[in-house]
Amino acid sequence: MAHKKNGEKESKKWVLMATARSPTNIAVIKYWGKRDETLILPVNGSISVTLEPSHLSATTTVAVSPSFDRDRMWLNGKEILLSGGRYQSCLREIRRRAEDVKDEERGICIKREDWEGLHVHIASFNNFPTAAGLASSAAGFACLGNVTLFMCSFCPCKLMNVKEETTELSSIARQGSGSACRSLYGGFVKWAMGNKEDGSDSIAVQLANETHWEDLVILIAVVCSRQKETSSTTGMRESVETSSLLQYRSQVVVPRRLIQMEEAIQKRDFPSFAKLTCADSNQFHSVCLDTSPPIFYMNDTSHRHVQLCFLIYCIYVHGEIRLIIGLVERWNQFEGTPQVAYTYDAGPNAVLIAPNRKVARLLLQRMLFYFPPPSEKELDSYVLGDTSILQEAG
Ligand code: DP6
Repeated sequence: MAHKKNGEKESKKWVLMATARSPTNIAVIKYWGKRDETLILPVNGSISVTLEPSHLSATTTVAVSPSFDRDRMWLNGKEILLSGGRYQSCLREIRRRAEDVKDEERGICIKREDWEGLHVHIASFNNFPTAAGLASSAAGFACLGNVTLFMCSFCPCKLMNVKEETTELSSIARQGSGSACRSLYGGFVKWAMGNKEDGSDSIAVQLANETHWEDLVILIAVVCSRQKETSSTTGMRESVETSSLLQYRSQVVVPRRLIQMEEAIQKRDFPSFAKLTCADSNQFHSVCLDTSPPIFYMNDTSHRHVQLCFLIYCIYVHGEIRLIIGLVERWNQFEGTPQVAYTYDAGPNAVLIAPNRKVARLLLQRMLFYFPPPSEKELDSYVLGDTSILQEAG
């Protein structure tokens, strides 16, 4: 147990805390399928863009104290169960790597062997706009779960003085949630599939930093919906077991696309970037349909109300989100070259990427035209948390 410098047993009153903020990432070449479920090793590599933390991120505080009798965790103020599962394996991995920690001012010294007997409390909040009774939309936003899992690795690492060597962090974060390891870096990040059995080469690497392609604007249309019916973990397990398209995708299509995408990013070649992004999103959803039983992540979205989040600017629109793909495809066809890219993860939220602010503004105008803001009555019902309008629409 932790001791005061003078060797006395430390009272049960002290608490040590660490806080950190992590951004979310959006995959442009998707990770879907594991070859090892325990170590979380993917069947193919993936590439993502990390969002500005001030726009969409999770802030997590982890506290340790001898007065805590068990590990506990709160997400946006609500306690969640930590028994078994990934959170525990993350914490186990971190405790195993923990070092001595000293707080000179308060005379606290925790020896590395003490960590096994100390429990943590973790509180994580996301900064996603949860206005107008749409708080549940944040819970439905797939990436935030990953951010939180990532933070569950990162914050305790910080607190327990785990060496911030990126390969180590990558492997701990990956064991929380695969895609989470890509949040280790800003800019464009590749999660290499790796070949080794122990997963030591399945790590995240930065392809280009956040200043490399500063003009890009990412616009997220968040659908107010229930939490997705099939989690990514379950969905990808079923795809691995049943989809022959996934085998073709992971062995033939993605290796080629990873090279093309890296090149498009290095050259800031938006048309190629957009084509690959849309194609990969569409193929990922085709794999979902090719899964038995089929998974319909995008169909979930029809006739639901949509919340648009443009950087820190937030407006509400509603309509059929499937129209967004049509809108972008028609626009790109009309111009003869891709103006905007879209990508959908394992949920109904559309992520739209524009090459610059000028096109982003046009896109926003079009979105507002097709999905005009809700009426006063609808807004009132959001504020009052009345979801009957959504149910009627659904
Ligand atoms: C569709 O990382 O959530 O968002 O490793 O089982 O936790 P687990 O899955 P998760 O899967 C994300 C899948 C995706 C695509 C992506 O982000 O690459």
